[in-house]
Amino acid sequence: MTSLLIRGGTVVRPTGDERADILINEGVIDEIFVRTTGPQKLLAADQTIEANGQLLFPGFIDCHVHFREPGMEQKGTMETESQSAVAGGVTTVCDMPNTNPPTVSIAALREKVRIAESMSACDIRFFFGVTQSEHIQELRHLWAEQEFVSLRDRCCGVKLYLDHSTGNQKAAKGVAEEAFRTCAELKIPLVVHCEDPVLNARAAKLNTRMDISAHSLIRAPESEQRAITVAVELAKGTGAHLHVAHLSTKRGLELVEQAKKDGLAVTCEVAPHHLFLSTEDYETLGTLGKMNPPLRTPDHGEALWAGIEKGTIDCVASDHAPHTFEEKQTVPVLTAPSGVPGVETMIPLLLTVAAGRWPHPRRRSFQPKLMYADIRRLCFDNPNRIFSLRQTAIEQGSMANLVLVQPEEEWEIRGAQLHSKCRWTPYEGWKVVGKATVAGRW
Ligand code: NCD
Ligand code: ZN
Repeated sequence: MTSLLIRGGTVVRPTGDERADILINEGVIDEIFVRTTGPQKLLAADQTIEANGQLLFPGFIDCHVHFREPGMEQKGTMETESQSAVAGGVTTVCDMPNTNPPTVSIAALREKVRIAESMSACDIRFFFGVTQSEHIQELRHLWAEQEFVSLRDRCCGVKLYLDHSTGNQKAAKGVAEEAFRTCAELKIPLVVHCEDPVLNARAAKLNTRMDISAHSLIRAPESEQRAITVAVELAKGTGAHLHVAHLSTKRGLELVEQAKKDGLAVTCEVAPHHLFLSTEDYETLGTLGKMNPPLRTPDHGEALWAGIEKGTIDCVASDHAPHTFEEKQTVPVLTAPSGVPGVETMIPLLLTVAAGRWPHPRRRSFQPKLMYADIRRLCFDNPNRIFSLRQTAIEQGSMANLVLVQPEEEWEIRGAQLHSKCRWTPYEGWKVVGKATVAGRW
């Protein structure tokens, strides 16, 4: 196919929607003919998609995923998880370093980039992990040498864990500060998993309960708050750009808001599971609701939605962290692995809210405010800017990377029909509206 015409769709832009006919030639957006009330320009192409009543977005970005390759291929591979991303309207992802081997060396990054290069449907970028000083030396080397320029282009930032999670990537003593200083100097965004290791360890020691909801007490809200305080102080002291990963608490949100007011380079993301699920869901989910940071009481989720409305929250990112269903059945339940898949369901869940529906089947009386333009901001413009991903929006002369959304199409989330290798979802049976399909990507 050499040319494609997408007729009459509504392009969702931060500045307002516009109905347009889009002509794509050899993968490049050749013409955007905005429909006005005047006479229509007749465009023709080898193939035409009639997009009346449909929404057009740039391919969505998910800036926090764990695609598991190399080393954990039983949970997922770049191939399977990319398919899951694309099936959910996501065409760019930023993959975390807690693989095996972890992405803490140039060699490990090179190997990931090599595998990712054959995944044409999804653009995979990688975070560089630092847990030891020598990893920071490696990062400096990566940033210094001309020969690594193409690897650098694929590296979207540095990831720092303040406490252990899957892959045991907690930074050693003193490394956090060094990482902040280095990222400030090299102008690399630093994504931080904010949970406090001392508070978590103490709570784990004191815990006598065996049920899964104890996970939310062992990794309590105070733990996130304390870690965010530490991270914001380090950002203040060094000038680094701090991006708080999967923000999940009210107080954490206030701390980020204050840091922004103070003029610090601080941004944040929230994960869909903290927006749509709460500790009340442990009853039906069991260990399928176990992740780090853990599920919170509903008041935290409500505060996060308010943070989206206010613009304090910069991105929604899935923290897509598949584990096999069997692995999730580990007993005692508190030792089951943490993490849930989400790259394929994130956009549909958000589209459902933007359509004026709340998808949680057991918690009915809640309707946050969200516009389609907000989804574009949270899952395209902001992550694109924060991580310098260089993806182009729907503009004349740019490579086509388009997602078509049928805003009225109702469907039911079924783990068995999703594309992640793990084949389960914490949103089993949820009814959503809005199907996102990649319409043209070159
Ligand atoms: C992540 C995983 O499984 O890789 N799990 C999670 O609960 N979020 C690890 C992480 O980033 O914390
Ligand atoms: Zn994660």
